[in-house]
Amino acid sequence: MAKETIKIENLKRQFTMGSETVHALKGISFTIEEGEFVTIMGSSGSGKSTMLNILGCLDQPTSGNYEIDGVKVKNLSKNELATIRNEKIGFIFQSYNLLARTSAIENVELPLLYNSKVTSEERRKRAINALEMVGLGDRLFHTPSQLSGGQQQRVAIARSLVNNPVMILADEATGNLDTRTSYEIMTLFQELNKKGITITFVTHEPDIATFSGRTIVLKDGEIMQDYKNHKVQSAADQLAKLPLENHLS
Ligand SMILES: Nc1ncnc2c1ncn2[C@@H]1O[C@H](COP(=O)(O)OP(=O)(O)OP(=O)(O)O)[C@@H](O)[C@H]1O
Ligand SMILES: [Mg+2]
Repeated sequence: MAKETIKIENLKRQFTMGSETVHALKGISFTIEEGEFVTIMGSSGSGKSTMLNILGCLDQPTSGNYEIDGVKVKNLSKNELATIRNEKIGFIFQSYNLLARTSAIENVELPLLYNSKVTSEERRKRAINALEMVGLGDRLFHTPSQLSGGQQQRVAIARSLVNNPVMILADEATGNLDTRTSYEIMTLFQELNKKGITITFVTHEPDIATFSGRTIVLKDGEIMQDYKNHKVQSAADQLAKLPLENHLS
């Protein structure tokens, strides 16, 4: 049997707002195996970000179980959670979350600063490698404002890779990008997935979901559908088919 990278059981998360309780997740269970590329779909407010934040150990569920890479997350201390986040998970957000006025290479080095086992030379080497992997080997010293949106997202992807995480969690990672740039980024995600990286990718867009092998659809905090995609589209092929006038950025 393949290794389970994510295993959640009856996960619930509620938020108390004054006298009102919001049931953002109402008991969600699934497993994601090592090497899968899963998209999470669902309308606004369906609980996608709430779930991803729990998967990324940024938030704790109200109840239910969660195991990442065989480690039970419940009852871990803040420090242990931070270590798991740093060593096992790469995050990518819609708004890139890069430090302004800080070069691409320094942004990518950031997660390694917390790792005392990595020397500064090793840090630089790994950051350069990660930036080369995302096609930015010639933009090492550009700051975010000197990069396009797609390039900034590539820096964020390089940053997420620099610690060799067991999985990448992305929340609307193409949400701010035009179609062409989105497909370029999806081409990159498909390449990373081919190298064995497990990816969980939240998106609003059905065409983005066709690039993944499996889609989980949430509605009002519950799983509506969980299906395998038997005809995964190649983002590189779709990119090649886009009309050139679409290239506005
Ligand atoms: N910190 C919080 N406090 C109170 N309620 C919250 C909090 N975070 C999320 N919620 C509520 O939980 C529900 C799910 O929110 P969530 O952000 O997970 O939705 P989403 O599917 O990511 O939506 P979108 O597509 O708009 O990003 C919403 O009703 C939201 O208002
Ligand atoms: Mg969201």
